[in-house]
Amino acid sequence: MSYVQTDPGSPVPVFTVASLMLRKRGGPKLAMLTAYDASIARAAEQAGIDILLVGDSLGMVVQGHASTLPVRIDDVVYHCAAVARVTRRALVMADMPFASAPDPATAFRNAARLVGEGGAAMVKLEGAGHMLESIRYLVERDVPVCAHLGLTPQSVLRLGGFKVQGREQEVAERLREDARAVVAAGASALVLECVPAALAAAITAQCAIPTIGIGAGADCDGQVLVCFDLLGLGGGRRPRFVRDFLDGRGSIDAAIRAYVDAVRSGEFPSASESYQ
Ligand code: KIV
Repeated sequence: MSYVQTDPGSPVPVFTVASLMLRKRGGPKLAMLTAYDASIARAAEQAGIDILLVGDSLGMVVQGHASTLPVRIDDVVYHCAAVARVTRRALVMADMPFASAPDPATAFRNAARLVGEGGAAMVKLEGAGHMLESIRYLVERDVPVCAHLGLTPQSVLRLGGFKVQGREQEVAERLREDARAVVAAGASALVLECVPAALAAAITAQCAIPTIGIGAGADCDGQVLVCFDLLGLGGGRRPRFVRDFLDGRGSIDAAIRAYVDAVRSGEFPSASESYQ
């Protein structure tokens, strides 16, 4: 076997970090979905999803916790490996869970597990501030990083709940500064969660890297949803930015395809599915 593989089993997905940058410059919006197992990963790939996120949301939607805080790196490695094993085209992104990046060297050790054991092609880190050093450290050591700003669920204890971020001028300005800082640190993409649509649009315009929104309006460069939310399995009160794509459709495949189409055309999210 040749040392440089291009066949199935290659660690390089068809949709790469370079593809992300090309989409920032033009082409359809990015469609990203969480996946925690092989079956959803297969269905999502077939529906044309660009990025599969093995999110630490697994703590809430798979393990039944009230927050993402109890999720451990072993959990993400396990679920990421299940997703990556069957994924050929999409980029597999894995979350660095709570307290897995207290310093750059520990962050790198944990990120290396997500890449080496989990098969991730990119890792996602919540926050800026002290995380900037870890983002820079990982990128310099060849681990592509997606940043995550706005409502960062790992900060729920400090934020005092799962609330929209950036409605006040001061917080909005800090988010814009943080976005500049994660780009300067080397992040290749930026998830914006639960921020007013106009602020997300301004950050998207100022950023050289693609923004991927969840509860951040239609002007981001892409959208992400939790797979169970898309399938109407959220339970409890449905957040404004969630649409049940299974409603009125006969299969999970059709629901995910409808999501991909709605993201690519810019039809999802609508104004009423966004925050002002
Ligand atoms: O953990 C997760 O699923 C996430 C998305 C909601 C962006 O971070």
